[in-house]
Amino acid sequence: MNPLRKILVTSALPYANGSIHLGHLVEYIQTDIWVRFQQMRGHVCHYVCADDTHGTPVMLRAEKEGIPPETLIQRVKAEHERDFAGFHIRFDHYHSTHGDETRHFAETIYRRLRDAGCIDVRSIEQYYDPVREMFLPDRFIQGTCPKCRAVDQYGDSCEACGASYSTTDLLNPRSVVSGATPIRKQSDHYFFRLGLSEAFLKQWTRAGHLQTEAANKMDEWLSSGLSDWDISRDAPYFGFEIPDAPGKFFYVWLDAPIGYMGSFQHLCDRVGLDFAEYWNPDSTTELYHFIGKDILYFHALFWPALLQRTGFRTPTRIFAHGFLTVNGEKMSKSRGTFITAASYLELGLDPEWLRYYYACKLNGSLEDIDLNLRDFVARVNSDLVGKFVNIASRSAGFLVKRFGGRLAAIEVDTGLDYNPESEAGFIAELYESRDYARAIRRIMELADAVNQYVDTHKPWELAKSPDHDARLHQVCSTTLRLFRDLTLYLKPILPHLAERVEAFLNTSLTWDAIHHPLPEGHVINAYQHLTTRVDDKQMDALVAANQQSLTAAALPAPAACEAFADTISFEEFSRIDLRVARVSQAEAVAGADKLLRLTLDLGGETRTVLAGIKSAYDPSQLEGKHLVMVANLAPRKMKFGISEGMVLAASDESAGPFVLFPDAGAKPGMRIR
Ligand code: 2FM
Ligand code: ZN
Repeated sequence: MNPLRKILVTSALPYANGSIHLGHLVEYIQTDIWVRFQQMRGHVCHYVCADDTHGTPVMLRAEKEGIPPETLIQRVKAEHERDFAGFHIRFDHYHSTHGDETRHFAETIYRRLRDAGCIDVRSIEQYYDPVREMFLPDRFIQGTCPKCRAVDQYGDSCEACGASYSTTDLLNPRSVVSGATPIRKQSDHYFFRLGLSEAFLKQWTRAGHLQTEAANKMDEWLSSGLSDWDISRDAPYFGFEIPDAPGKFFYVWLDAPIGYMGSFQHLCDRVGLDFAEYWNPDSTTELYHFIGKDILYFHALFWPALLQRTGFRTPTRIFAHGFLTVNGEKMSKSRGTFITAASYLELGLDPEWLRYYYACKLNGSLEDIDLNLRDFVARVNSDLVGKFVNIASRSAGFLVKRFGGRLAAIEVDTGLDYNPESEAGFIAELYESRDYARAIRRIMELADAVNQYVDTHKPWELAKSPDHDARLHQVCSTTLRLFRDLTLYLKPILPHLAERVEAFLNTSLTWDAIHHPLPEGHVINAYQHLTTRVDDKQMDALVAANQQSLTAAALPAPAACEAFADTISFEEFSRIDLRVARVSQAEAVAGADKLLRLTLDLGGETRTVLAGIKSAYDPSQLEGKHLVMVANLAPRKMKFGISEGMVLAASDESAGPFVLFPDAGAKPGMRIR
């Protein structure tokens, strides 16, 4: 047994403006397995996380929902915690970055940087939305690609030709928030002078804290020179105001990793741990961050540099992993493979199936992993049910019914080439290095061998004659002892199934228990159901539950209406934000037969909607009129541009569309209630 280690582990903080999906779970499951393994080994291992709450997207979403951001992040946090618990992710503490602890450390780190001369303030020019009166992050600006002229491309890169460019090069830029043409505006920004940490980072990134692939990536970045990092954003912004700079806020990516400290501080206060023991520069404890490879830059450059400059310890290691594909492709809402954690659980699928499947694929590298839904079914059924659970169900019945659940003496010569001590050591090394895939391969080889042992000795044959009672007793006892070992090896991955085995075998499975086989005379309880088979139909249901038909939601045609159930709840209805809008501009869409491009004024907010009403309306006839629109429809990318809502109009097979106009007196922005 290694000497006792004190370990602090984190997973990346999920944004507070979206649901947890199966892509997120790759990381949380990977981390949770590692943490449970360390705890099973008897080490002190704390696992903390939090919601990443700040930034423009959260602010705008809250505004769109008509609620304060604090209310939004509280609701989302509760959903995230529910989903994580559903997959048995066992945090010691789950916090929010919007809390006193994170604010305290963000301010402390900022002040120390400032006092050490690591902050530079200078004016930069950025796009500004004159209607909404805010600076626009790149993703809130759209326009025409300067390279290939594709329309409706984001501020920094073109999806059509793949070009990257500076937002200022975008042609015909437009604010996604209000539809207005952004103007260029200067403001002061606060920069962390990352270049000052170059020597430290060159050494740190090569000192064994990163996977080799990650360290190579860092070399590329380091050799192209380190630019200063802009850590401030102008109001309006949902975040922490910078102490000596009214109207300036910390950029969300500054306080996100500081949220690791904030969450841990909260845990310390709650259970009486010493924060300094884990974060002082001379700490002998270990600190690990599990992250996706897309956020390496933040964790392997900015974060260690910030910590080192401000008198905190740096991470022991950063463990980066790849992305999730489903059926070999990027997750997709229209294909139904953008699968939410909640939908998986709501369908009654066993969370341990997914934990097991991901573990089969995770090998500690940065490679992407694929969730193939057919393979998922095959793997769960053949390994978990066919190989593993089958061992217990084949032996426990005889033992309980015929021998009162009492184990016989161990069979010394099983004919199996199995040494528990060395197997446990080998498997432990694989867990430690996060190569769960190899650990499972080895455990399943052992399961095959145990099944072979059962097949050779055929307890069901032995049971036919009382003459073979002693042998039956011995074979079943030996089998269950081996089953206990397999369960112990799988416990970090399948904690709840292992708990049921612990109850049925009347034992408790720490890693150390491998040195103590269940003794002769030990009494077990009746066999408990451990897991069921999964089938393809359940996967089809999962995909169907996540399929979002953009066309059906967008067209108010009778055919689309039939896609809905007979009734909807009042709650469902009240989620539709119907509002009065004034048509400030209407024009035909070049190249489109049916579409008019309408610029709609919602009373301070402007939307562009592409409406299929050209056959019945002349654009000039609509300008200045009021109509009714669905204001909270997610923006849809259509062939001729992005449509940011839907205009209500009636039609049937023979006539229409007839746009619905509100009565005189209705004002832009009024809600339909
Ligand atoms: O990429 C993301 O989803 C971020 N919310 C991760 C933050 S990790 C840490 F720095 F907080
Ligand atoms: Zn392009």
